[in-house]
Amino acid sequence: MGTYEDVFRSSTEDPEGFWLRAAEGIDWDVAPQRALDSSGAPFYRWFPDGRLNVCFNALDRHVEAGLGDQPALVHDSPVTGTRRTYTYAQLRDEVATFAGGLKQLGVGYGDRVVIYMPMIPEAAIAMLACARIGAIHSVVFGGFAPPELAVRIDDAAPKVVVSASCGIEGKRVIPYKPLLDRAIELAGHKPEKRVIVQRAQERAELGTHDLDWAELVATATPVDCVPVAATDPLYILYTSGTTGKPKGVVRDCGGYAVALHWSMGAVYDIGRGETMFTGSDVGWVVGHSYIVYGPLLAGATTVLYEGKPVGTPDAGQFWRVAAEYGVKTMFTAPTAFRAIRKEDPKGALAAEYDLSRLRYLFLAGERLDPETYHWASALLDVPVIDHWWQTETGWPIVANPVGIEAAPVRPGSPTRPLPGWDVRVLDPSGQPVPPGVDGAIVVKLPLPPGALPTLWNDDERFIGSYLSAFDGYYLTGDSGHIDADGYVFVMGRTDDVINVAGHRLSTGSMEEVLATHPDVAECAVIGVADALKGQIPRGLVVLKAGAVREPAEVEAELVRLVREHIGAVASLKDVAVVPALPKTRSGKILRKTMRGIADGLDEPIPSTVDDPNVIEDLRPVLRRGPGHDV
Ligand code: COA
Ligand code: AMP
Repeated sequence: MGTYEDVFRSSTEDPEGFWLRAAEGIDWDVAPQRALDSSGAPFYRWFPDGRLNVCFNALDRHVEAGLGDQPALVHDSPVTGTRRTYTYAQLRDEVATFAGGLKQLGVGYGDRVVIYMPMIPEAAIAMLACARIGAIHSVVFGGFAPPELAVRIDDAAPKVVVSASCGIEGKRVIPYKPLLDRAIELAGHKPEKRVIVQRAQERAELGTHDLDWAELVATATPVDCVPVAATDPLYILYTSGTTGKPKGVVRDCGGYAVALHWSMGAVYDIGRGETMFTGSDVGWVVGHSYIVYGPLLAGATTVLYEGKPVGTPDAGQFWRVAAEYGVKTMFTAPTAFRAIRKEDPKGALAAEYDLSRLRYLFLAGERLDPETYHWASALLDVPVIDHWWQTETGWPIVANPVGIEAAPVRPGSPTRPLPGWDVRVLDPSGQPVPPGVDGAIVVKLPLPPGALPTLWNDDERFIGSYLSAFDGYYLTGDSGHIDADGYVFVMGRTDDVINVAGHRLSTGSMEEVLATHPDVAECAVIGVADALKGQIPRGLVVLKAGAVREPAEVEAELVRLVREHIGAVASLKDVAVVPALPKTRSGKILRKTMRGIADGLDEPIPSTVDDPNVIEDLRPVLRRGPGHDV
């Protein structure tokens, strides 16, 4: 492939040629003659004249190439004590049959299907089955509560929802069906049918609109892949923005397939017959790209792991999986390693497994703190590679592309931009800052293939959220700097998004929930540093004059309210009733100041503060609680 510099240069000097060559890694029904259509700028379209089917590229083409007996997907589930391997031929057959089932239910090209499932093979099968018939899937993370699911159902307006009777969280069985029923009750849009995978741990009662997955596939006829336009949506994935309404990130078919396939070799160094284990969830972009689509597009084996890094049953499970399936590349969030380290500080459990085939550990989803980087490097003795990306981008923006050339690592930096990403750092007036100076991290348009072309049904919000801050640039929402050698340092978000255990959440949406409580006059939620989860939310509320209940009672109710409205995944366990919130003279709540104090920083008090005493009174409350040593 040449050096990093060679490859990067060829992507900037001739982007069209670069991506058309990358497109040769995909089997097209109609091969694209053009790479980029800029005629609708700032809405760009990749491979405008290409036609393909992503499921064909992920499954059928490998079977046709004689790889039918190779393992495609391994489901490893310590929480149920089961494991099962699907070969490419078996997975293709299961997908084709379920696609036939969906078709029988009236799902076709362009229809949406919401998938609300635990980490079971049927989740991946449902995603690929949608892709097979040109339907658009929208996977909703199982940790979200019914109201969050309802918002997504209303926005995506699916014909069918696919779910399971239950998920298993550590030792707890969580019935999914009542959550789904409640969400449909809350939603204005009513999906015609729900397909439920019945699991042995807890079967669900099925109603008139429900079908048992097993019964549906028993009578379904397998169907072939339907070619679609490269620019057609493959999926919608909702992600947290600054308000309670999540953003429906749209992913196209052609650009995504090309970029992911390219990244598998160039970034993750994974090819046919090799094994990748991504410890995440299909509900997140990491799961979409590197549990399901990426490894399968590459003809590799992917591990779908149903369990946690610790406690299911111990902190050695990631090593067991790596050893058992000969994992070459492992990918997870730093928080998983912090959890393992907490349980097994010396990494004694790793010594019990043969990790000789493990070549790389990739980490993303949140900032990789240098301590975790050093611990993982020393333990595994393989390159530990931080890389930075977002739901919106679909694949990494900045990484150390070991499949091209491994660069020396600088702890704290995910290394340099990948081909296709023209990353800049700007000051508030839109001027580039000198090397080493912090500012807003932006990407010059057009974004490369694979990145979001727009938001579902909301071109206006797409422009408002990402393109309007700096003309000609995509606003990542992260701040940081680029050093003199081109290494990017991502320091944190500039908006209300926080990363809790690698899960992206909106403090704004938590505030919206707190504000619904009848006793709450005003509130703020801030993300504070946490030694395990990276960040955790903390709520501060002021009660209405005349509220009679005990503050402790209200605090407990508020914790429960967020759990019921957003989900357990929000991890809001700390809400404090306070006499007042610090504000500017114009009434803006000083969230950044509170966050800085909570994190133990020497946070300057803005000159615009209305009453400095409010901050002083709050200091003890802000400084209490979990560690600040990330
Ligand atoms: N369905 C239902 N509930 C879920 C869920 C799901 N799919 N996922 C998480 N939850 C629940 C958890 O059970 C927990 O509930 P609790 O408050 O009753 O204990 C809550 O949501 C918070 O979950 P989480 O933040 O994941 O905390 P945890 O203590 O269960 O696990 C880690 C902590 C670090 C082990 C875990 O978050 C992890 O492995 N993270 C790294 C990998 C990853 O998934 N990254 C995502 C993007 S790459
Ligand atoms: P998500 O859309 O859930 O993937 O979250 C994306 C956000 O997570 C980014 O905008 C960053 O704030 C953060 N993030 C992801 N990867 C990294 C990383 N390697 N370093 C720092 N922050 C990261």
